[in-house]
Amino acid sequence: MWKGRFAQDTSSLVQQFGESISYDWRLFPHDIAGSIAHARAQMNAGLLTADEFSQIATGLKEILADIEAGRFEFKTSLEDIHMNIEAELTRRIGAAGAKLHTARSRNDQVATDTRLYSRHEIGELLEGIATLKNALLSQAEKHAATVVPGYTHLQRGQPVTVGHHLLAYVEMLDRDSSRLVDCRKRLNISPLGSGALAGSTINLDRRAIAAELGFDGVTVNSMDAIADRDYIAELLFVISLCGVHLSRLSEDLILWCSAEFGFVTLSDAHTTGSSLMPQKKNPDVCELTRGKTGRLVGNLMNLLVAVKGLPLTYNRDLQEDKPPLFDSIDTLKLILAVNAEMIAAMEVRTERCRAAASDPMLLATDLADWLVKQGVPFRHAHELVGKAVAESIASGVPLDQLDLTAIDPAYTEDAKSVFSLDRALAARTNPGAPNPENVKAEIAKRK
Ligand code: ARG
Repeated sequence: MWKGRFAQDTSSLVQQFGESISYDWRLFPHDIAGSIAHARAQMNAGLLTADEFSQIATGLKEILADIEAGRFEFKTSLEDIHMNIEAELTRRIGAAGAKLHTARSRNDQVATDTRLYSRHEIGELLEGIATLKNALLSQAEKHAATVVPGYTHLQRGQPVTVGHHLLAYVEMLDRDSSRLVDCRKRLNISPLGSGALAGSTINLDRRAIAAELGFDGVTVNSMDAIADRDYIAELLFVISLCGVHLSRLSEDLILWCSAEFGFVTLSDAHTTGSSLMPQKKNPDVCELTRGKTGRLVGNLMNLLVAVKGLPLTYNRDLQEDKPPLFDSIDTLKLILAVNAEMIAAMEVRTERCRAAASDPMLLATDLADWLVKQGVPFRHAHELVGKAVAESIASGVPLDQLDLTAIDPAYTEDAKSVFSLDRALAARTNPGAPNPENVKAEIAKRK
């Protein structure tokens, strides 16, 4: 492509070192769509005849079909997807193909391709999130009233429901979706026409090209358009955060399916055995979700570090943006799909959950609230209940069976009425609280 200035061929080691075709081949549908839009603008500017445009468009569509059918041979010597396609087009159609790169550089081309690719993949990620949310919602619906301990510091805190716990993840996934949509809005701007860095003396209709490709507008500054990888960094962050949310869910499920908790049973189809210990049933999907999230975060760091020292505009370092981008998208798509399947099939062990929540200590806060309702200042109530808790621990008498009236005259017999899990949950009627009716209403609203 640049033989005019060079007297030597590129060393094969440099070809091997510099190629990106082994991974950027997957940009082909976007590269071809971008080229067709670019060629049409050339025709409209009088740079191509209608016949030349049609040769280019037909040739590119044939290449598209060949790649899709696995009939296209990618060449490492042609470095990347852009040159592989252009060279093959020219080989097939001759002179008209050689005109395609007018007023274009691989620099605006690659920025266009990765934006189109990211836009498409964000759509797929949104679908993946929606499917996972549906799985969480159906489990939450079944278990809107299944009482389970809620934890802080991994110590039992207060009773909640399994439905409420699962809906917490639905909230996180909602925000992840909205961040993806937001990121898509920002990246859906066309860099084509920015050239290598300084636009072109040949003015094509950038807005028409952008409209044909479904972009919402054109980039404002050619140097920014070439150098910018914000949109990838932002997407990698959103993907990382979604991974972090699912990694936390994984950690909850790993605990919940242990013998110690025993709150859920994962299906045989979503667990693995041990080659040595016959009794084992391991939550590998959860562990791999947690483990692969490390890669997602690593990919974000990879890109940020690659970009941080680059002067404007394009530097070849930027080619390194694609492996982390592709890997994060592929990884999160798989994480979403496998978790949706696993969660839909998971069994919640209602009795075990309730038994764990039945420790009256979980209602110590409710007892303090009861005292407050009798007019005791909260700090004082906290201390009074703390004393009752200490006595329960020292005497081995459960909190709900202690003679509270003997501890302080502020207690009456009615104080024991707080020791009902169902009443405790029913009493939490404020928006956002784990009252089963709240949980059901939230699910109904979403449905
Ligand atoms: N394969 C390159 C990349 O991914 C395309 C742009 C190459 N531009 C250049 N001036 N060498 O970044």
